[in-house]
Amino acid sequence: MMQKRFFLKTTAVAALALAAGHVLAQDNVFKIGLILPMTGQQATTGRQIEAAARLYMAQNGDMVAGKKVQLIVKDDTSIPDVTKRLAQELVVNEKVNVLAGFGITPSALATASIATQSKTPQVVMAAATSSITEASPYIVRTSFTLPQASVSLAEWAPKNGIKKVVSLVSDYGPGIDAEKYFKERLILNGGQVIESLRVPLRNPDFAPFLQKVRDLKPDALFVFVPSGAGAAVMKQFLERGMDKAGIRLIGTGDVTDDDQLNDMGDGAIGVVTSHHYSAAHPSAVNKKFVEAFGKANKGMRPNFMAVGGYDGMRVIYEALKVTKGQGGGDALLAAMKGQIFESPRGPMFIDAQTRDVVQNIYLRKVERKDGQLYNVEFDVIKDVKDPGKTK
Ligand code: DHB
Repeated sequence: MMQKRFFLKTTAVAALALAAGHVLAQDNVFKIGLILPMTGQQATTGRQIEAAARLYMAQNGDMVAGKKVQLIVKDDTSIPDVTKRLAQELVVNEKVNVLAGFGITPSALATASIATQSKTPQVVMAAATSSITEASPYIVRTSFTLPQASVSLAEWAPKNGIKKVVSLVSDYGPGIDAEKYFKERLILNGGQVIESLRVPLRNPDFAPFLQKVRDLKPDALFVFVPSGAGAAVMKQFLERGMDKAGIRLIGTGDVTDDDQLNDMGDGAIGVVTSHHYSAAHPSAVNKKFVEAFGKANKGMRPNFMAVGGYDGMRVIYEALKVTKGQGGGDALLAAMKGQIFESPRGPMFIDAQTRDVVQNIYLRKVERKDGQLYNVEFDVIKDVKDPGKTK
């Protein structure tokens, strides 16, 4: 039994190593394995990123440096074991040149060893726990990190009458990061977190937690929930009359997700969040992006997941161009590091040292604009590096 397991393990590693060598032998196709949650609780993340990746390809063509770019989309249902198996199959059987996507942190982490062993760049377009980029030297991130977003809000809050806060986060990587970095920075600025609440990632019921918050009567409730869960938080927050009790809702921009915001109703107006992307970002590049995205997807509004996917494709395309279609995983990775460009979110930079994204973080307030609810930016903290990096 032991021997069999050992054999299986060594053959799997050997297959991955072999796959790394074969990538160069592939003729004229450049394959991107895009692993996303297309079904289940995180399905909106998959839908947004796939739409953005397809838009990027439609706008930029599928012939790059003499290679035909092929996108292979796989649904991992946001179960990390499935993500890992799909990544392995994509590398070994499909001989993909790049792995991309990764809707939630556990999926990104589960794939890190595959990226390392096969020397395949892993472009993380969604997941946002700080430590992800440290899990493999082949990981490059085009989304954001929770420490980036959280410290920026903790700078704003105490200057705006919010001193006493309760935090409520999803109980896994990004939530723990948000809780920790928000709290540390708030204390530094003279505020306090009087209670830290954690809700399960899967099928959360916010009601009992919100009741507790109501009893504690903080100035504000700080929330992190992943994309897709924000509307439920908002609904229950309003149903319990928390706003009328004088408790403000603040959070990272995941809670006022552009994918859901417009359906949240006027109760959402005035909610202040911090994030790297708003569909209302007032730049020419973003206006063009939002318009093209809507046109290609029945009026759908791109959210921060979409921009992570769109920019991730840009990073891959540029790396392919710079390496003239001749590079293996290491050459592609080198060409991804240090890329700097204007994204629909604003200026964006892939730090060559950390392979993580350096970007502006915006403070935004929900407002009705042209009849629709938007996160309207009113302040910016420029070129924010991930505060979670130890190096
Ligand atoms: C993660 C997932 C999300 O949907 C989000 O908005 C932020 C972080 C994550 O799992 O890393």
